[in-house]
Amino acid sequence: MLDLKMRGSSCVLMSVLLMIADGLIVKGPSGPLVAPLGSSVVLPCSVHELLSVKDLEVEWRRTDSETLVHLYQDGESRTESQQQDYQDRAHFFTDQIQHGNFSLRLDDLRAEDEGQYKCKVYIQQESGETVVQIKVNAERLRVSGTSRSISASVGEDVTLNCSVDSHIPPGDFEEVTWTKTDEDIQVLLYQDNEAHSSNERYRDRVELFPSEIPKGNFSLRLKSVRTEDKGVYMCQVFAGGLSANATVVLDQLGFSVVHIMMLILCISASGSGLLLFCLIYCRSPTK
Ligand SMILES: *[C@@H]1O[C@H](CO)[C@@H](O)[C@H](O)[C@H]1NC(C)=O
Ligand SMILES: *[C@@H]1O[C@H](CO)[C@@H](O)[C@H](O)[C@H]1NC(C)=O
Ligand SMILES: *[C@@H]1O[C@H](CO)[C@@H](O)[C@H](O)[C@H]1NC(C)=O
Repeated sequence: MLDLKMRGSSCVLMSVLLMIADGLIVKGPSGPLVAPLGSSVVLPCSVHELLSVKDLEVEWRRTDSETLVHLYQDGESRTESQQQDYQDRAHFFTDQIQHGNFSLRLDDLRAEDEGQYKCKVYIQQESGETVVQIKVNAERLRVSGTSRSISASVGEDVTLNCSVDSHIPPGDFEEVTWTKTDEDIQVLLYQDNEAHSSNERYRDRVELFPSEIPKGNFSLRLKSVRTEDKGVYMCQVFAGGLSANATVVLDQLGFSVVHIMMLILCISASGSGLLLFCLIYCRSPTK
């Protein structure tokens, strides 16, 4: 019992000695941090006591790629030296420095952010580091369309359903494409908050519902349906480094009631026109 206790304490002593050997004791979290896709997470890193901020340097790097996530040097954040992708997403609490707190907040968490991050602190001649592990709660991206095929009449407008079921923040939708897969035509492209259609056949007939987009609803409005519109449509969503798709089958293109009525009207109109013509023509020779 005593032996175990002694061994335990010598173990603690050794690790303390090891940390002291590195100079500075830098504290991190006690375990991996688990956060959902798209959320913000604070990566803790602090020293017990900060005697001076003179020559203080704090370096946050990914351990796998050595990518520079954030650098604090000469009294300021050196955003120019950090990797582009982290410039907007990594937030260093400058006001916390005086408390020896060098935590970093990473916003808009992506799947590829999963991994280990090293916080290395240099104060004058001393240095120390801690490692923070991030696990992204990879709730997979799920997209749903319409399972049964839908039908429409020529000339009618139709909505092809496509919505993201996963909880994704609106800012995370990078790109959405609507493709007619049986003919391999790109029907619509949503990118940088704008929807475009480059295809002649669809250009003026397709649109998304702007007010629905923040909810992850990328349903497509297809106006005045034509017979050649029949086919398989795929909606593919790219968000937070993930992608998923759903399909909608458009078939049974019939003629609408309005079309049929107009046809009858045309026939009857031309019929009565003929009758009128006959009446006038037949009567005139008698005059
Ligand atoms: C460091 O600052 C961040 C942001 O204000 C805070 O969330 C965190 O709890 C602080 N850590 C310590 C050890 O004070
Ligand atoms: C499209 O989605 C809405 C909402 O979930 C649903 O009410 C509607 O029935 C769907 N339309 C088709 C054709 O599946
Ligand atoms: C998406 O928006 C369209 C148009 O407002 C609506 O018809 C459809 O029901 C919406 N889908 C979902 C899943 O809310």
